[in-house]
Amino acid sequence: MKYAVFSDIHSNYEALKVCLKKIEEISVDAYAFCGDLIGYGPSPEECAQAVMKLKNFIPVMGNHDMSLFRSDFFNWFSDYARQSIIYTQKHLSQKSKDFISSFAESYQGKDFAMVHGSFFDPYRDYLLTAEQFILNLDKWQGNLCFVGHSHVPFIMSYKSNHMPQVDVFLGSDVTIKMLPGMRYIINPGSLGQPRDTNSMASFGIFDSAQQTFRLIRLPYDIKTVQKQMQKAALPGILSTRLSHGN
Ligand SMILES: [Fe+2]
Repeated sequence: MKYAVFSDIHSNYEALKVCLKKIEEISVDAYAFCGDLIGYGPSPEECAQAVMKLKNFIPVMGNHDMSLFRSDFFNWFSDYARQSIIYTQKHLSQKSKDFISSFAESYQGKDFAMVHGSFFDPYRDYLLTAEQFILNLDKWQGNLCFVGHSHVPFIMSYKSNHMPQVDVFLGSDVTIKMLPGMRYIINPGSLGQPRDTNSMASFGIFDSAQQTFRLIRLPYDIKTVQKQMQKAALPGILSTRLSHGN
């Protein structure tokens, strides 16, 4: 099976369009989504409609997705994140809200596991360190787990009785071969709001037969998204950070 793996779209339809076109060219069997379809960006409904059409779409819920339905999540946010959720509530159809509310807290399949944050706290934890890898080790099965939330593309590699190694993906097209006897946690980066100082949209392709993961970065029309955000009166910080990728 070949999976497109993507996370943290954050209502960025311009980035999503470019990535889905590339994924269509590559041709995949299924789509694994690590959460945060909405929040921050100007086009929640367009993004929801686009992913609703994908065949074999496997989603987990992110903290921004959850904040549509739970006031404790909404209240936990910064002012600018709250403003974007108020905007999202107004610009999302009931059908799309129902669709997002169906996202699972976590996923355990034959080929991989998946959670937005971590298995201890699927919505708030940022899984970033070797120590966190060890803590989460018994919470998922198999050799591969996908996470999102930090908006940084990385791979953690673990061999029994060794400390996991953490490597950030560098470059715009990188393929990693996964080795037998090892366990991995991969973050495909953020499709719609990268935070690794690279402004290009980030996603991956996982081939379960070949045991490879390919990380792809693609440029998209950031200026158009920024104009849309200005028109939507979304906070300026959310717009400028797209240019800087942080
Ligand atoms: Fe996010």
